[in-house]
Amino acid sequence: MAARRSLIVVSNRGPVTYDRDAAGNRVKRRGGGGLVTALRGLLEHHDVTWIASATTDEDRRVAEEGLGDRDVVLVAHDPAAYDGYYNVIANPLLWFIQHSLWGLATKPDLDRRTHTAWTEGYAAVTRSFAEAVVSQLDNNPDALVFFHDYHLYLAPRMVRDARPEAALAHFVHIPWPPDWSILPPAMRQAIYDGLLANDVVAFHTERWARNFRNGCSDVGTTHVTHHPISIDVAEFDELRESDAVKEREAQLIASRPEKLILRVDRTDPSKNIVRGFRAFRLLLEEHPEWHGRVSMLALLDPSRQAIPEYVEYLATIEQEVAAVNSQLGSDDWLPVDLRVADDFARSVAAYKQFDVLLVNAVYDGMNLVAKEAPLVNDRGGVLVLSENAGAHEELGAWAVTVNPFDVAGQADALHAALTMDEPERRRRAAAIQAHVREHDVVEWIETLLGDFDRASRNVHP
Ligand code: F6P
Repeated sequence: MAARRSLIVVSNRGPVTYDRDAAGNRVKRRGGGGLVTALRGLLEHHDVTWIASATTDEDRRVAEEGLGDRDVVLVAHDPAAYDGYYNVIANPLLWFIQHSLWGLATKPDLDRRTHTAWTEGYAAVTRSFAEAVVSQLDNNPDALVFFHDYHLYLAPRMVRDARPEAALAHFVHIPWPPDWSILPPAMRQAIYDGLLANDVVAFHTERWARNFRNGCSDVGTTHVTHHPISIDVAEFDELRESDAVKEREAQLIASRPEKLILRVDRTDPSKNIVRGFRAFRLLLEEHPEWHGRVSMLALLDPSRQAIPEYVEYLATIEQEVAAVNSQLGSDDWLPVDLRVADDFARSVAAYKQFDVLLVNAVYDGMNLVAKEAPLVNDRGGVLVLSENAGAHEELGAWAVTVNPFDVAGQADALHAALTMDEPERRRRAAAIQAHVREHDVVEWIETLLGDFDRASRNVHP
């Protein structure tokens, strides 16, 4: 384990969030999302001040009163600015560009609202983050500032201008596409310029790092690196034995079919949920021998429902499931079991029970479900994995690979996974488990910090 060091972590979501319970008392919850879960490990091993957005009314009150955790700084933004920053620019505009989700014939329209959201939302909120970082650096000038993700691309330049000697690093957790031409030149240059103000820019995979390097060759360079994020293995070893998980697992076992295909995702268009149902429907149409014997369990966490594209996507998911079930289902067999809820214990219970796990993302920075579920599974379950998920760089050799647009190919892959012989399934599952155990989130953090140290020593000897 590396020596303890001072870090200022900056991300939109923080490690804690506040709400009021039914009785009106303040309650503190763990912040959600894969990024926050992975980064929480930093808190144990290093001296961290974490700067994040106040995302609830209660967060805002905590920020105003200055009464939160000593090591968490919640920044309260103007609500209209935050709306432009989160609901217009970060998601969907940047998220859709980076996951290649725009159809382009009619969308996106970068209308006046988008331009206003860019200056008065995205840039303004980012500036509040940069100011919070600068005031932390005034107390702790030697701390490494560790920015995260697409919400904060402009912040490093603002901090660099104010504190030229600061050590700055940025981790981008989502794909970096080869083409940014959807954005007008001033916006895309501001994004590259912001990121290049860091001493180090990091991604999960070689592929995303290469795209970034190619894109910035005529703008400038900085140290670009890649380290695949992973999971807290000990946490999952504990979780799988917890009462909440065992209780849900018992319910699942009582109703499970002979073969269970599982997917666990946020309801995000990048996850390719609709094509997954189409592939499953095609499998059932072409292989009637599976009728009544296999079901797809889709555990979906509702996401970003203030954004129209996400509302439409969830509606399409529900329509597609209704169509498959009414076409092929019977009184005693439901082909697709769709659950739209945030229930992590149920997800972990399903991780234990799947025979086939479908991760067919259009694009994904990493995809932690592809690591969590095989780690917990004890049935020799097969991973069907998109070639465009970051996890494919590490796990592709032991998965059944799919192209996310090839619905017929996905139907074939599901059939191949369902019929794979037991020794082969066990061999692949064991290899994935061994890989995830060996390359856990602690390794990710420590190798990354090692890289940052080397790079900032070169820049600020
Ligand atoms: O890196 C992608 C990410 O920021 C992850 O933290 C998480 O999986 C997801 O996006 C959460 O998005 P949001 O904060 O918008 O709910």
